[in-house]
Amino acid sequence: MLEKVNHIAIAVPNLSESISNYKNNFNCVISKIIKLPIHGVTTAFINLPNTNIELLEPLGYNSPIKKFLDKHKNGGIHHICYEVKDIDEAVKRLLKNKCKILGDGIPREGAHGKPVIFIHPASFNGTLIELEQI
Ligand code: CO
Repeated sequence: MLEKVNHIAIAVPNLSESISNYKNNFNCVISKIIKLPIHGVTTAFINLPNTNIELLEPLGYNSPIKKFLDKHKNGGIHHICYEVKDIDEAVKRLLKNKCKILGDGIPREGAHGKPVIFIHPASFNGTLIELEQI
């Protein structure tokens, strides 16, 4: 069911500092900054030949990454995103297998304008997993 790793997301306390860090040290190509109020994050993507790195900065008071950054002040790896062909089918299977999906389990539009869901880390060895329909 899983296709490519679409991106690995890193929570950062300061997005512009983090972008400069990647640009200065690795000469990376970085996307424009995208504000996603519905997800409580501001993001930028580092485009690599085989995947992308998503830098995440909290946006608003109820940002889902605020708690993570309280625990990991300097930032850290936050989630991994796999591509799937049929997200509704994936959700159905996960629920049948008693996996916990965050929120109401209804796919929402993610950073690429495609439907995404998040699976609770308790269901996958402490790893927060995002599925994105491609
Ligand atoms: Co993501």
